[in-house]
Order: sequence, then C-alpha cells, then structure tokens
Amino acid sequence: MGKLWPKISKIRFRRTRFKLTMLWSRVRKKPLDVRLRLLFNFWAENKRGEQMERGHLSLTERTIQRMGLFPDDRILDLACGEGLATRIVAEGLLSGRGGSVLGVDISDEMLRRAQNKSSHLQNVSFVCGSAESIPLQDGFFTKVLSVEAFYYFEHQERVLDELLRVLAPTGWVFLAICHYTDYPESLDFVDQLQVPVHIRSAAEYKNMMQRGGWEQVEVEELVWDSKTRMQRAGHDRALLLIGQRPGVQQ
Ligand SMILES: C[S@@+](CC[C@H](N)C(=O)[O-])C[C@H]1O[C@@H](n2cnc3c(N)ncnc32)[C@H](O)[C@@H]1O
Repeated sequence: MGKLWPKISKIRFRRTRFKLTMLWSRVRKKPLDVRLRLLFNFWAENKRGEQMERGHLSLTERTIQRMGLFPDDRILDLACGEGLATRIVAEGLLSGRGGSVLGVDISDEMLRRAQNKSSHLQNVSFVCGSAESIPLQDGFFTKVLSVEAFYYFEHQERVLDELLRVLAPTGWVFLAICHYTDYPESLDFVDQLQVPVHIRSAAEYKNMMQRGGWEQVEVEELVWDSKTRMQRAGHDRALLLIGQRPGVQQ
C-alpha cells in the first residue's frame, strides 16, 4: 500500500481536475454568483472544504483571539464555508447568556456540511446568500469575521457597505486574508483558483475601509509557523483588517 498510495492520490487528483474542467466549460458564461456557488459546491463534494478548514485553523484561532469575545456577542461569520470559525466562536460564547453566531455562505453544499457538523451547538445558525447582498436585518451584529474569503468578492466596497448595514453602531469587523500583494509568495497559489480574485495591498485595503466610513481602521500582519502543505502554499501569514462602525450621532 505504501508504494501504491502516491499513485492512487495522483489519479484521484487528475480525475477531480478533469471533472472540474468539464464543469467549468459548461458554466463559463453564467453570472459570477452562480459560478462561485457551483465551484464551492464542487469543492465541498470533493472534500476540499475539510482540507481548507485544516489549512485555515491557525489563522481562524488567531483571528478569534484578536476579536475578544463577550458572552452576549451576536457574531456573523461571512463566507463561513463548512463552519470552522462559526463553531469555534460558538464554543467560545457561553451558552444561555444571549450570545449567538450565524454563518452565511454562497454555497449551499458548504452550508449543508456546516449544519451537520454544528448540530450539537445551540447558538448557531446558517443562511445561504451573497456577501454583496446579505439577506439579514440592519444593525443586528456586534462583530463580523470573515476568514480567507474577501478576495472572492467582486465588489469589495459593496460588501463593506453591507457589513456597515448589518453591524450595530460601534460594532467591529475582522477580515483575515492570506493573499495580498505585499506578500508575493501568496500569489502563486492564486493561479489555481478557477474564479476571478481581487487582491490588494495592506495600504489599499486600509484606504478602502477609511473611504468607506469605517473608524479605528487597522491592518495587522499575522505570521505563524507553517506545518501542513496547505499552510506552506501561502497560508503561513495573513493580513487582518479591523474596523469599527461609527456610533450614532447625538
Ligand atoms: C476559501 S473558502 C473559506 C471558507 C471558510 N471561511 C474557512 O476559512 O474555511 C471561501 C468561502 O467563501 C464563499 N464565498 C465566495 N464568494 C462568496 C460570496 N460572494 N458570498 C458569500 N460567500 C462567498 C465560498 O462559498 C467559500 O465557502
């Protein structure tokens, strides 16, 4: 089995790539929202969601640590995938104290898996929708996090406006991004993604948030030891964009 295993995994990898190429040739002309949903549904069905979670664990833990959770926080996990951050946050919020976490994602297959993995948690829910038009009420959340997804959003300014809308006054956003132009090694991996990505530098992100009306804007660079293959593929450092929704004017 020892010698056979690399051959089997190579065949599986080629078969998955072939299926993805076929899928892509059929949906090339569809709107971006539809392509994103199909791509990430395909990833979930082919166990890429689980691999992704393993690769994102260090970053997710660091981001949540930086957020500083309160027991009554109402948190949105935007583009939650299979719900890794959603579950870590839910476990960090003491149950029965009013805290809750809601995951939103464009891929219904990612969400189906997120729901299955989170069935033991009381304070968790999921909604399918796009970051550019978040299907949720105004002013509800105290904090938003999003791990490794912001560069998929075609209209990033629109997404930031949506986050201002769904956050309560003085609420905070935390966006963790592994691919950014100040870290060229992180861009190698980007060619393998089948959908367009929108990648900027730390200074450009900061500027975009300040122009968008966010306060206390900070961009921190997180760096950690890379152990897994996924982390070495540009997942050993990240930008963390932080901003606060302004309070209500008296
Ligand atoms: C690289 S995965 C990260 C998932 C998860 N946050 C994690 O760290 O494991 C990117 C996720 O963004 C979601 N996504 C991409 N574009 C989206 C959009 N416009 N609106 C909502 N979700 C989107 C995908 O479906 C996918 O689950």
